[in-house]
Amino acid sequence: MSAQPSPHASLSSPWPATARWTAHGLEIGGLCAADLAEEFGTPLLVCDVAHLRQRAGEFRRAFPQVHYAVKALTCRRLLRLLGGEGLRLLAASQGELEACLRAGVAPGRVALHGNNKSETELERAIGAGLGLLICDNLDEIRRAAAIAARLGRRQDALVRVIPGISAGVHRHIETGTAESKFGLPIASGEAEEAVLATVESRGLHYRGLHAHIGSQVLETEPYLVTVDRLCSLAGRLARTHGIDTELLDIGGGFGITYRSEEPPAISLLARAVDARLRADCAREGIPLPRLLTEPGRAVVGGAGLTLYRVGSVKERPGGTRLVAVDGGMSDNPRPMLYGASYEVVPVATRNGAPRVATTVVGQHCESGDVVAEALPLSADVVAGDVLAVAGTGAYCYSMASNYNRTPRPALAAVHDGDAELWLRGETYDDLDKLEV
Ligand code: LLP
Repeated sequence: MSAQPSPHASLSSPWPATARWTAHGLEIGGLCAADLAEEFGTPLLVCDVAHLRQRAGEFRRAFPQVHYAVKALTCRRLLRLLGGEGLRLLAASQGELEACLRAGVAPGRVALHGNNKSETELERAIGAGLGLLICDNLDEIRRAAAIAARLGRRQDALVRVIPGISAGVHRHIETGTAESKFGLPIASGEAEEAVLATVESRGLHYRGLHAHIGSQVLETEPYLVTVDRLCSLAGRLARTHGIDTELLDIGGGFGITYRSEEPPAISLLARAVDARLRADCAREGIPLPRLLTEPGRAVVGGAGLTLYRVGSVKERPGGTRLVAVDGGMSDNPRPMLYGASYEVVPVATRNGAPRVATTVVGQHCESGDVVAEALPLSADVVAGDVLAVAGTGAYCYSMASNYNRTPRPALAAVHDGDAELWLRGETYDDLDKLEV
């Protein structure tokens, strides 16, 4: 059955590295998925530590400097684990920055981006000794430069630019085109102006250029074009103004397999990017900058799976079967937001039951609350069964909500036959904590 976990994490499998199909059903991290559901309750986000290490290692070997984009999934144990694997961190807000600092990560290993950073956010970041500030616009450059000067710091900074290319992804996660709200366009000359403002400021130390073209990118070519555009700008800055661009950050966005997508292997993509960078720099007559990347999804997405318990099964006209589970849009809004699609399997062993077209729905008061639409699922699934949904490590927990006063699920990390709770599940008391 194609939807079943493959024995090895392959590029085209949505299942975590240690997922196995055994006589006891689905196993992950050497543990039986049904037992995990029993022990921790459902819904449950399960993270495969071996998979996390494997992906972190692949990025670390492929690129000189890697910042994990913590927006994909944040908790202290995870950030420490990835730090231990040599990754730096990328925060997108003051809250994410706090999470990085509270995890005990050295501030110098953290970068901060965002298109509307507040004065307090900039003060906190620069005051803490942030590694890299990724400046989005001229207002911010002036604000940050003044704050840094006041704090007696010279803050290392990148300037975020818009390369003006499409990465061919869902429009809500496309960020490299002229219409983007992030950064300043190269084409209009605004990017160059921002670099000059950074260089001329007392509080900022211009280190290089930054671009991020979108998320769940499945092709190599858009990254190569990004490198071309960044290098042309770096060349112009060098020739016209004598400005040295030491760092070139091509952002994140590296796609993963949810169903049958086949993203390029990170090592191959890195090789292609490196070759293009060398060629571009030779053409521009500039020294080779250090290459930075910021993967989020590609590190944690495939490491996670969600376990749900089935509450009811219904038939609908046209032969569609509806299987309702004890979570949904509150723990995974991606189907609603992006029309995302997932692989689902029952965790128990099946004796060859045929698979029938099934829509797995959540328990929330919205008709669009779907976990997976029209996928083939074992005909004998009944209330009480546990289902596993693959590829939920990224942007599910981090975008979870308390809609319908639903507590957020627990996160358990599994490794070599051990399960560790990284985040406990929310309680109804937690939901009351803001009442005054
Ligand atoms: N760097 C920057 C500047 C970013 O804005 C992002 C993500 C990343 C890196 C990491 O991108 P990744 O490697 O994870 O694709 N909620 C959406 C994804 C939003 C991504 C936002 N920016 C989703 O669930 O698909």
